[in-house]
Amino acid sequence: MIRFENVGLRYGMGPEILRDISFQIPAGSFQFLSGPSGAGKTTLLRLLFLSLAPTRGLITIFGKDRALIGRRELPHIRRKIGVVFQDFRLLEHMTTYENVALPLRVRGRDEASYRGDVTELLKWVGLGERLNAHPPVLSGGEKQRAAIARALIEQPDILLADEPTGNVDPPLARRLLRLFIELNRSGTAVLIATHDLNLMDQVDARRLVLADGRLTVHD
Ligand SMILES: Nc1ncnc2c1ncn2[C@@H]1O[C@H](COP(=O)(O)OP(=O)(O)O)[C@@H](O)[C@H]1O
Ligand SMILES: [Mg+2]
Repeated sequence: MIRFENVGLRYGMGPEILRDISFQIPAGSFQFLSGPSGAGKTTLLRLLFLSLAPTRGLITIFGKDRALIGRRELPHIRRKIGVVFQDFRLLEHMTTYENVALPLRVRGRDEASYRGDVTELLKWVGLGERLNAHPPVLSGGEKQRAAIARALIEQPDILLADEPTGNVDPPLARRLLRLFIELNRSGTAVLIATHDLNLMDQVDARRLVLADGRLTVHD
């Protein structure tokens, strides 16, 4: 669904952070993106999410050349890619339910048409009792799960998660991992950026490893 060919990225006039990156995200795949802090994992996710453009190389996304995708088309393509940001990006003045429903509301959908879906999804991530809580009173793990639910509400083809277990204890990390695996079994491609070796050891999944700006693939 997404293919990188010799992609390079530098910020401004800085050094090339990513060099000659070639890989793909096949439909329905489950992969880890690993590498030490500062290796460029978040940068690579931003390229995948189209919030950054590569400084060289070719990115093909759902069969289209990324360089030829116009501004008006971007939101449509982004909707197929769910992202869980490392800092969650939940809106504090809205309830958990409202945060998750927001992408649908923004698109002008009628609340009656999605209320059941939002509630069901929040139950699936284990927040069925926290629908009306605001983010400031949620624990780190609850915020993480709210952010996952928001990323999934539009049923994306791909879910990208940036260090989703970075702020939670090991039992919750395992639970989150099980959620991602279950999601993947239902057909969604999943890419998890993490530097947590322990987490990766729990699943037999392909690993994309970033080091010194280059990516190697370990099947
Ligand atoms: N907006 C930015 N402008 C300039 N440099 C950046 C920016 N974002 C990240 N970097 C640099 O790019 C490198 C990779 O960062 P990042 O992608 O956040 O790595 P990781 O997620 O693996 O920790 C780091 O050296 C970081 O300082
Ligand atoms: Mg990062």
